[in-house]
Amino acid sequence: MYVKEGDSVSQFDSICEVQSDKASVTITSRYDGIIRKLYYNLDEIAYVGKPLVDIETDALKDVASEEDVVETPAVSHEEHTHQEIKGHKTLATPAVRRLAMENNIKLSEVVGTGKDNRILKEDILNYLAKQTGAILPPSPKPEIIPPLPKSETVPAAAKDRGTKIPIPISKPIVFAGKDKTEAVTGFHKAMVKTMTAALKIPHFGYCDEIDLTQLVQLREELKPLAQVRGVKLSFMPFFIKAASLGLLHYPILNASVDENCQNITYKASHNIGVAMDTEQGLTVPNVKNVQVCSVFEIASELNRLLTLGSAGQLGTNDLTGGTFTLSNIGTIGGTYAKPVILPPEVAIGALGKIQVLPRFNGNGEVFKAQIMNVSWSADHRIIDGATMARFSNLWKSYLENPASMLLDLK
Ligand code: COA
Repeated sequence: MYVKEGDSVSQFDSICEVQSDKASVTITSRYDGIIRKLYYNLDEIAYVGKPLVDIETDALKDVASEEDVVETPAVSHEEHTHQEIKGHKTLATPAVRRLAMENNIKLSEVVGTGKDNRILKEDILNYLAKQTGAILPPSPKPEIIPPLPKSETVPAAAKDRGTKIPIPISKPIVFAGKDKTEAVTGFHKAMVKTMTAALKIPHFGYCDEIDLTQLVQLREELKPLAQVRGVKLSFMPFFIKAASLGLLHYPILNASVDENCQNITYKASHNIGVAMDTEQGLTVPNVKNVQVCSVFEIASELNRLLTLGSAGQLGTNDLTGGTFTLSNIGTIGGTYAKPVILPPEVAIGALGKIQVLPRFNGNGEVFKAQIMNVSWSADHRIIDGATMARFSNLWKSYLENPASMLLDLK
């Protein structure tokens, strides 16, 4: 809550932050005026369609009728456009704000590329193009791209991958001898809903190990190039693109079934969800239309989603419409997992930690391999084990021989 009764507010000033089960959104004032009534206290549950605040407008010097002043939570009113990140105003000119408003875009979802993260007209147009599926070419800064760094061997950082994941030690939480009960809210509430629905799906599990030795080296080479273009290149864009290339051959894995399992809908778009561990809890934004994106475009979009995710500002568009999911739990640790499908999707993959392990090469010699395990879950009502295994083999072959992806990239 950023205001109290009696406070003066101007248009676009923050009023409060609303945490829905999908996203956290800052509600801002549409009016210049004085806060006359707040309908909720901090941490209370606000109801969709009910008033949140009364603002006495300067013009009327009268409390406007409830209909005029009602601000409702973002869950029901996605048309709110004057969003701000964690109470800090988003920087944008009135013309850009108008453009965002006219196109129903929340400024909080747009990553500003101007000075001090100011949102520019191009940012809105780029965002709009993404939403409509028209993928614009990335707009790299006009800089000279340096040649590939000469490295004959896998860099040290990559060699030791897996053994160096830092283990952050958080403060122990002590309840001083008393139990503590609290309401399940926010992202946790979403998790209750989704996972309860997932219980109805008979899950089929399939695991394999992937040798990422070549990919680890390739990524080390490409990372500085992406960095020059302002994008952090992790492994996820490769995992995501390889999955999309595989889905082109096994579209049943990028489908949904209706409640009574009467109809299967094969999705045209590969909107690949990425499980994200945030301060607010687990959230799964998705990268839209991966089938027409380059690895770099996926990396760039993932950077945007990670920035918004860590600010708790992912919007509904980013969080809905997913068709297939990958969960890289390996950034935290572990080898195998038992991922749970996010309905209405029908498949999900969990990736374990990349570890340096001894393996045999074709000549029977032991070498230091970069090994990662994958655990797939699929809806066994419509997907059989053989299909899942074939898809996994194809995904694996792209990642074990990343150059082979080039043949199929559009
Ligand atoms: N094993 C070992 N290291 C890994 C790895 C893996 N499987 N995946 C990524 N890494 C490395 C990255 O290369 C990076 O190292 P670098 O800084 O040397 O380049 C580092 O871990 C951090 O990666 P990150 O910046 O987090 O990017 P990412 O794209 O790999 O991961 C997310 C992004 C969103 C997947 C990750 O942050 C996350 O939240 N993971 C947890 C997902 C989760 O909770 N799943 C469970 C759902 S129930």
